[in-house]
Amino acid sequence: MGRLVVISNRVAVPKARGVAGAQGGLAGALNSALKDYGGIWFGWSGQESDDRTGNINMQRHDGVTTATIDLSTRDIDEYYNGYANSTLWPLFHYRLDLTEYERETGKGYERVNERFAESVTPLIEQDDLVWVHDYHLIPLGARLRERGLKNRIGFFLHIPWPPTRLFVSLPFHERLVRTMLEYDLIGFQSDEWLESFLHYCRKELGAEVDDATGVISFEGRTVEARAYPIGIDWEHFQKQGESEDAKGAEQRLVSSTRNRCAMIGVDRLDYSKGLPERIDGIGRFFDQYPDRVRDLVYIQVAPPSREDVESYQQIRALLEQKTGQINGARSEVDLVPIRYVNRGYSHAELYGFFRASKIGLVTPLRDGMNLVAKEYLAAQDPKDPGVLILSRFAGAAQQMSEAVLVNPHSPDDLSHAIKTALDMPLEDRKHRYEAMVATIRDDNVQAWTKQFCDDLRGSGD
Ligand code: F6P
Repeated sequence: MGRLVVISNRVAVPKARGVAGAQGGLAGALNSALKDYGGIWFGWSGQESDDRTGNINMQRHDGVTTATIDLSTRDIDEYYNGYANSTLWPLFHYRLDLTEYERETGKGYERVNERFAESVTPLIEQDDLVWVHDYHLIPLGARLRERGLKNRIGFFLHIPWPPTRLFVSLPFHERLVRTMLEYDLIGFQSDEWLESFLHYCRKELGAEVDDATGVISFEGRTVEARAYPIGIDWEHFQKQGESEDAKGAEQRLVSSTRNRCAMIGVDRLDYSKGLPERIDGIGRFFDQYPDRVRDLVYIQVAPPSREDVESYQQIRALLEQKTGQINGARSEVDLVPIRYVNRGYSHAELYGFFRASKIGLVTPLRDGMNLVAKEYLAAQDPKDPGVLILSRFAGAAQQMSEAVLVNPHSPDDLSHAIKTALDMPLEDRKHRYEAMVATIRDDNVQAWTKQFCDDLRGSGD
């Protein structure tokens, strides 16, 4: 059996591992996948350098080999900040209002995908399974095929796929999707994103699509597309929970919140996460139930992300303003209702914070999956579990219908959900927790990896 070659924009190089939050769920998931399968993880080092010698930095750590390249200032600007995060990211999260189309950044995106193909090709052996990840690298499979690669190549999209009527606003949308059809297998986080993709292929490309199997036939090629909801590394996370760091973090939160109920949100500082809308919902709760301000303390962990992109600077300013307003209006000398923290924490510390929090708020406006929702529940005490408030627009909501589901755009809905969670009797909390935790434990990241890799190996046979 060949090795697994994983290719993603960002690689969790050893020094960065262990710090969750800013890096998102993808890095943690791929780290687990590679530990099980062996192989190579290729991508951008996260470093900026104009060195054009094509040097690849190889490192081995914890059974995972990473191979990284640096990108130039121009590459980062056009490919990462530009096309990936100012065009595709907002568009795929249904934010046409924030989507920018610049010809130059589109060219930069193509150029970096070509550079990835050039650098990684010599590392790939004949029997390797190649697994490309996320919106940064959609055309990579086609570029690898042009270099003669005959291996099985799969692609997984970690973010939503937008409805056809939004997606067609992308100039050259057809060209982008044609490159996707060079893969052997395409994975999505949920049926909703899969259905949108199949709809596009049928309607805009005129491809033959079998909805039941996800098989797409187009210009003599056959590609399979399916939903593979990603999971967490359950065992690893539980082990983190036994650590001193986790216990210390739990204790820290319990002692600093004393008799008040801790409610927590942990999100990259991204407009897709619905953070200002969430703060509005909390503000509405305080307005509607002023006598309960003393019952609650909200902890928002929000490590800054993609700080060179203007829309991210704006969302940060807005969040700071809204948090400041509520704290100004509702604080007492011995009470601050919202603790707003701009940094990431290790998985162990997050476990402790989640365990000490009786309510978990995960309210993105749109999200491919959202692993924080799963981690929050995985950290709960089964005898006295907390309540998860979850946006119905997160991919996770399709698997976790026992959460308190909300419309994150509605402050009233959020306020009502917080009241429901605060007052929820133990039996109800246990019932909901047990229904969801079995799926989180069993449909974990190992099962996700195995299913995708088995299907990729078998697809086309
Ligand atoms: O999950 C979506 C994603 O864009 C991943 O591809 C990425 O690793 C993560 O969010 C964090 O984003 P960034 O790498 O831009 O910091």
